[in-house]
Amino acid sequence: MRVSSKLAFAATAVSSWLQLASAQATCGNVSSQSYDYIVIGSGAGGIPIADRLSEAGHSVLLIEKGPPSTGRWGGTMKPNWLVNTSLTRFDVPGLCNQIWADPTGVSCTDVDQMAGCVLGGGTAVNAGLWWKPHPDDWDTNFPTGWQSKDLVGPTEKVFSRIPGTIAPSMDGKRYLSQGFDMLGSSLGAAGWKYIVPNEHPELKNRTYGHSTFMYSGGERGGPLATYLVSAASRKQFTLWTNTVARRLVRTGGHVTGVELECNGAGHAGTVSVTPGTGRVILSAGAFGSAKLLFRSGIGPVDQLNIVKNSTLDGPTMISADQWINLPVGYNLNDHVGTDIEVSHPDVVFYDYYGAWKAPIISDADTYLANRTGPLAQAAPNIGPIFWEVIKGADGINRHLHWQSRVEGIVNTSMTITQYLGTGSVSRGRMTITRQLNTIVSTPPYLRNEHDKAAVIQGLINFQESMKAVTNLSWITPKSNVTAAQFVNSVPALPSRRTAKIGTDDGRTGGSAVVDLNTKVYGTDNLFVVDASIFPGMITANPSAAIVIVSEHAATKILALPPPAAVAKA
Ligand SMILES: *[C@@H]1O[C@H](CO)[C@@H](O)[C@H](O)[C@H]1NC(C)=O
Ligand SMILES: *[C@@H]1O[C@H](CO)[C@@H](O)[C@H](O)[C@H]1NC(C)=O
Ligand SMILES: *[C@@H]1O[C@H](CO)[C@@H](O)[C@H](O)[C@H]1NC(C)=O
Ligand SMILES: *[C@@H]1O[C@H](CO)[C@@H](O)[C@H](O)[C@H]1NC(C)=O
Ligand SMILES: *[C@@H]1O[C@H](CO)[C@@H](O)[C@H](O)[C@H]1NC(C)=O
Ligand SMILES: *[C@@H]1O[C@H](CO)[C@@H](O)[C@H](O)[C@H]1NC(C)=O
Ligand SMILES: *[C@@H]1O[C@H](CO)[C@@H](O)[C@H](O)[C@H]1NC(C)=O
Ligand SMILES: *[C@@H]1O[C@H](CO)[C@@H](O)[C@H](O)[C@H]1NC(C)=O
Repeated sequence: MRVSSKLAFAATAVSSWLQLASAQATCGNVSSQSYDYIVIGSGAGGIPIADRLSEAGHSVLLIEKGPPSTGRWGGTMKPNWLVNTSLTRFDVPGLCNQIWADPTGVSCTDVDQMAGCVLGGGTAVNAGLWWKPHPDDWDTNFPTGWQSKDLVGPTEKVFSRIPGTIAPSMDGKRYLSQGFDMLGSSLGAAGWKYIVPNEHPELKNRTYGHSTFMYSGGERGGPLATYLVSAASRKQFTLWTNTVARRLVRTGGHVTGVELECNGAGHAGTVSVTPGTGRVILSAGAFGSAKLLFRSGIGPVDQLNIVKNSTLDGPTMISADQWINLPVGYNLNDHVGTDIEVSHPDVVFYDYYGAWKAPIISDADTYLANRTGPLAQAAPNIGPIFWEVIKGADGINRHLHWQSRVEGIVNTSMTITQYLGTGSVSRGRMTITRQLNTIVSTPPYLRNEHDKAAVIQGLINFQESMKAVTNLSWITPKSNVTAAQFVNSVPALPSRRTAKIGTDDGRTGGSAVVDLNTKVYGTDNLFVVDASIFPGMITANPSAAIVIVSEHAATKILALPPPAAVAKA
């Protein structure tokens, strides 16, 4: 995320979301039907697990707070040139940037970070980045049973269902690759090695390559086009969109149902899990799942007191003697993203933002007819991506991932974001406000000197690698600013994990919120399956890793004996 985009995001006014809400001002009351599993949130965590649980024969209700996104699911948001096609803005790779220009009705409004509040969550709105994790991503931070050796099977399964592609246009050609060619050949000349990233997830030190995308058939693809399709083919699977989960209804550590909030269009009332054996899975994202826990009386006392004191939830909140005190919201971690910018006369800009209103006619035509051309690629010409591992003075290997795109202050600019991933030790905290919005109260960026040193060293190494490139100009940082001065002066980007997995029970001074089966401590039928539970950073975009975690969690949950139904806080 660019800081400037955050500002644009805050300033956007017209609300298609509100129009949608006022057009259909009633909610259907839920019936008395109960479900074996209620999964809250339809992102990279929720969709795969809903598929797996329904595949095992259980009745599954998947609840999504936002509207449908891609055309296949009845989405309607689209520019004029897609009218009379089955496609929406979410289907066309070249329109993925529109989230920054017009997030209204698409991004969540109760979080101070960019998050997708539509069917598919982040997997509907992101740039489709689809990377196989490095073994260190698991081995550095995850507990027993969640190491790279344990995740080989789930990884193979995920990548057989969603292989991804490094050449999304259906003719196999790459369009406007001048930016890639310039940076890639420069890195190559400086000794970095070209790899096909998902063929060599373990080679992440001074390597570069084309990004892999989840796209398929020239369209977004991903979980919405695979896992959700198989889930929806089963009669025991139910999907509710536009439906907001307010909180869990529970007796001690046993959840009996989910109370819904009328969103103007979806369902209202309280929907129950199968008495005794039913389970609830929170997959609402690092902020959404944490907020639901807080509103359900699960979290640190200071946060539960804020909910208790709120006008919205205070009068009806579960009583304090039923609270389960867990460190939800602590251990917030994220990539430190540092943007730099260079320009080179070879680089050619393509106006993906302009393609919303007025695409180049021939490009729209080839996309619509054959799913080829620049619009079949993610905006704005992402790549190369490259990696380096830097060993800190504290002995920790820190993984840096660099992601380039053709965008910047001039048409020959490339903006390159350096992300500090696996090995990063800085942590922050997210909290809730009296209006029940979640905020990052302690940003997790560069709170550790060795994290900062790695970011600075990586920048110096990249500058060094670009020294011999003829006609390359540095826009940010300027040549009179050192890497250290620069890193000390810039803010950083979005945050992700809030309900960590581990064996050290957070109720008794540990740091974990969920156990090794992803079950919330102190409950017998409540689980969290999304990025919230990641105990530490992984390197780069986590979409594929979240799907892998979801597959693995499904296997663990299905193997558990039925809930005891009598657990207490
Ligand atoms: C839902 O139930 C409430 C309370 O019983 C009732 O007032 C409302 O009319 C019902 N709404 C619909 C759409 O049936
Ligand atoms: C969509 O199709 C309708 C009916 O054929 C036609 O009247 C309309 O002009 C079309 N709209 C666009 C934007 O192509
Ligand atoms: C990464 O590669 C550099 C350059 O080849 C090497 O010096 C360094 O030891 C490697 N780091 C790790 C952690 O393997
Ligand atoms: C509760 O809310 C009131 C205002 O409604 C405020 O004055 C008070 O400080 C709040 N207390 C806590 C513990 O947040
Ligand atoms: C689509 O592909 C076919 C076959 O290659 C080609 O003949 C046709 O011109 C293409 N259509 C457009 C609009 O590019
Ligand atoms: C940059 O590219 C856009 C779109 O291709 C074009 O409209 C604009 O004139 C270009 N700007 C410059 C300074 O060349
Ligand atoms: C550098 O730029 C000059 C002038 O713009 C041009 O003549 C030359 O070919 C360029 N060199 C390279 C290697 O791009
Ligand atoms: C670097 O140079 C720019 C002008 O190009 C100037 O505005 C800026 O203050 C200088 N920064 C430092 C740290 O010297």
